[in-house]
Amino acid sequence: MTDAHHGRRGDVLTEGQPNPDGDSLLAPRPLVRESDVVADAPLVFDLDRVSVHYGSFRAVRDVSLAMRAGQITAFIGPSGCGKTTLLRSLNRMHDLIPGARVEGTVKFRGESLYGPGVDPVEVRRRIGMVFQRPNPFPKSIFDNVAFGPRIARTKVNLDECVEGALRKAALWDEVKDRLKTSAMEMSGGQQQRLCIARAVAAQPDVILMDEPCSALDPVATMRIEDLMQQLKADYTIVIVTHNMQQAARVSDMTAFFTAEIDETVDRRAGVLVEYDRTDKIFTTPSDERTESYVSGRFG
Ligand SMILES: Nc1ncnc2c1ncn2[C@@H]1O[C@H](COP(=O)(O)OP(=O)(O)OP(=O)(O)O)[C@@H](O)[C@H]1O
Ligand SMILES: [Mg+2]
Repeated sequence: MTDAHHGRRGDVLTEGQPNPDGDSLLAPRPLVRESDVVADAPLVFDLDRVSVHYGSFRAVRDVSLAMRAGQITAFIGPSGCGKTTLLRSLNRMHDLIPGARVEGTVKFRGESLYGPGVDPVEVRRRIGMVFQRPNPFPKSIFDNVAFGPRIARTKVNLDECVEGALRKAALWDEVKDRLKTSAMEMSGGQQQRLCIARAVAAQPDVILMDEPCSALDPVATMRIEDLMQQLKADYTIVIVTHNMQQAARVSDMTAFFTAEIDETVDRRAGVLVEYDRTDKIFTTPSDERTESYVSGRFG
């Protein structure tokens, strides 16, 4: 990585320029150069030196990056480099995993996600998650989508809310005549769109997706990718994917991670190698490890 890549995210740092934070330029801290980002969109996530531990094992080390509203950010990198672990730190899913601990600062819309008084349940409503395997509840299609609004006890018209979410998830036309049938009878691709509808119905700000297409065929995958392009008008999306073409097709920004040996404990820790505009990552990356990975030479 060149010197121009050291410093805080979002700042324009060139070689020899003093770091506005007064931090040592010697400490390598990946950043997004302002010139490469749609800088006028509001910051949604701002991570500063985030590490995630499972017990004594540090699975992710010192990740700093920022994500802006209305963008799709892809996390890519070899298996075990901590993509899922970092994703989970964005909506406090680690609170549910015994022994898991997040260090550093995760700011969401300007406020610390882990600050005192922050309700993790509300966090997970605002920052929804879609998993690798579609996980509909063994309930009707309608009840799956109505689940969040019912818990929230908000005074909404449930029928309208369910229809709206199913439309946003590009599923309405396929299911409008069988809303009372079990979600378990749907195809995998339909189930995954149902899970997206369920997340959307909770009126989130962000949708996190962890390899949402890995259990789907190419046609269902395309439908989800198209859907993501529609959803990004309303939501900020972070997607973990092993599919390079998918990252290149759907995302605006790409973060490439790898696992580096952590000499203090002699185990591998996930680190952010490079974060930049997706076209840059896939055509002219700055780091040779990124180049090797995106060209398929390792991982
Ligand atoms: N619940 C857990 N407890 C202990 N260690 C864990 C836990 N979850 C993940 N890890 C470890 O943390 C590291 C990062 O795992 P993670 O699942 O985040 O990687 P990943 O990049 O998502 O991999 P993949 O591409 O295979 O999904 C791995 O070494 C993994 O074994
Ligand atoms: Mg994973």
